[in-house]
Amino acid sequence: MRLDKLLGQAGFGSRNQVKKLIRSRQVYVDGRLAEADNLNVEPSLQEVTVSGKQVTFSQEKYFILNKPAGVVSAVSDKEHQTVIDLIDEADRVPKLYPVGRLDRDTEGFLLITNNGPLGFRMLHPKYHVTKTYYVEVNGLLAEDAPAFFENGVTFDDGTVCKPARLEIIETSLEKSSANISISEGKFHQVKKMFLAYGVKVTYLKRLSFGQFYLGDLPAGHYRELTSEEKEILKDYLD
Ligand code: URA
Repeated sequence: MRLDKLLGQAGFGSRNQVKKLIRSRQVYVDGRLAEADNLNVEPSLQEVTVSGKQVTFSQEKYFILNKPAGVVSAVSDKEHQTVIDLIDEADRVPKLYPVGRLDRDTEGFLLITNNGPLGFRMLHPKYHVTKTYYVEVNGLLAEDAPAFFENGVTFDDGTVCKPARLEIIETSLEKSSANISISEGKFHQVKKMFLAYGVKVTYLKRLSFGQFYLGDLPAGHYRELTSEEKEILKDYLD
């Protein structure tokens, strides 16, 4: 949002008063003098000071949640517990939503925020955000499997997926495990890709989303983004 608008909303007076304030060289953004009133500022990610005092804006929240199986990636649901229900009441600010979706039986990484435009931007194909999943299947992943995924899997309806990277962890005739990285978000994409190869996914967990990682966060738990992680978000909000 424009700096002058933001300061106006934060109670620093009319547009003209805010302009004067900026011109009087009292406003800093992330420690740098703000010289233009149309400067683009992301208040949840940047620190604004006026006359040396930090300005507080209505706060945007960013959480990484380890979604357990059985919980739906939705804001509300009549039947099932939602990912928003897993956020403590004290943190449950209005308009929280999950960025993207995981199937009900899928576990793992979900970014939860109340920053409206962020989800649209992170999921936009232009960013090609890579998502890595740990997957277990009910059959063999033979030597040809990495090339099968790398060549772009084709679904029965003719949909062609972008190349995906498969790293086999263990494999046998009855059960295999692997990590797979994809850069799109088609409906049930990972399950359908493995079905196209000839095996069924029996367990699916998202490990990472772009430069954000689940780490050892236990299922059902969440944490706020670190300031380093918030820095990364700026790439999507410019
Ligand atoms: N691909 C799937 O098939 N399911 C998910 O939940 C995520 C990716």
